[in-house]
Parts: sequence; C-alpha cells; structure tokens
Amino acid sequence: MAIHVDKLEKRWLYIIAALVVMTWAVQIFYAARHNLHPPSNVEGIDSAQLHLPTGTGGDEFAEDKIGVSRDENGQLVVRMVAARYGFYPQRIDIPQGETFKLRVVSFDVLHGVYVPRTNLNLMIIPGYISEVETALMTPGEQPFVCHEFCGPAHAYMYGVFNVMPADQFVLAQAQGAVQ
Ligand code: CUA
Repeated sequence: MAIHVDKLEKRWLYIIAALVVMTWAVQIFYAARHNLHPPSNVEGIDSAQLHLPTGTGGDEFAEDKIGVSRDENGQLVVRMVAARYGFYPQRIDIPQGETFKLRVVSFDVLHGVYVPRTNLNLMIIPGYISEVETALMTPGEQPFVCHEFCGPAHAYMYGVFNVMPADQFVLAQAQGAVQ
C-alpha cells in the first residue's frame, strides 16, 4: 500500500532536498576551488599555563618562544598567542610564497584570525591549539583581525603579517631558538 503524501507536502520535500544538495555543492565547490575547509588536527593545551616555561605542554608558547622559527625539518613555524585584546607577537615577518605552519592559542576566551582576501581563517578556542598550513602570496603588509567577538575592544584586536621577498627574509636570532 502506497503511503499518501499530500501534494503540497511533497513540494516542500523537493524544495528542502534541493536546498540540501545546493548547500553541499557550495561547500564542495569552495573546498575544491578555494581550499576552504576546517582544520583536521585536534591538539589540546592548558591555556592557564601558557606563560610558564614548563607546564602542561604550555612551554611551546612561553614568551621567549613565540614568533617565527624553523622546526627540525626546516619548515617555518609561526607561534602566536591571542589574548584580549591583541596578538603576540603583533607583527610577523614572513617570506612571500613559503609554506608555513601557523600555530595559535588563546590565553583567555574565544578569538579568531582572519586575513582578508585569503583563505586564512581560524577560530582559536581556549584549551586547543589551532593549526593551519598556508602561504601568503601578496607582498607587503597584510593585516589580520580577530573575527570572533571577544569583548568590548574586539574591534581593536589585530596584527600584521609583513610579507617580504623570500631573499630578504632573515630569521631573527631570538626567534630561532625553538626546536
Ligand atoms: Cu579577539 Cu575578538
């Protein structure tokens, strides 16, 4: 026995099915065409111990270790702390076109990193390390903003990537200590 479905109801079913398919199509298009996708790693950290030289994994983001460095494979790693209302360090020199790993943690509440006109768009959740691998192609200063409302001065929370020609980029001595 066939189940009776009202004509109007059927129409709405089709509309909803079409909307679902359309949403998928848009997501797949942006994932494929613009490399937009959620980060796949999950790494925890104790946000209350970030400033301590040793602690529950917090030592990676101690004051003397944030900034740009190279890991044991020679890959550039940028470590940054987001806290109300700023990014530390606030200005980051980065060579144009070179892939780097950006690792960001929050000191307090939910923050975000968004570099306009790029696909660099991260949510920074307290208790987790947000990581993304990317490269910046446009030379010059590229400001980034916090795009998660984090308090009254949220709109003033920003930083700058200084994208410089690769042959002019020098890893600062103090920033090269992290391994
Ligand atoms: Cu940090 Cu908004």
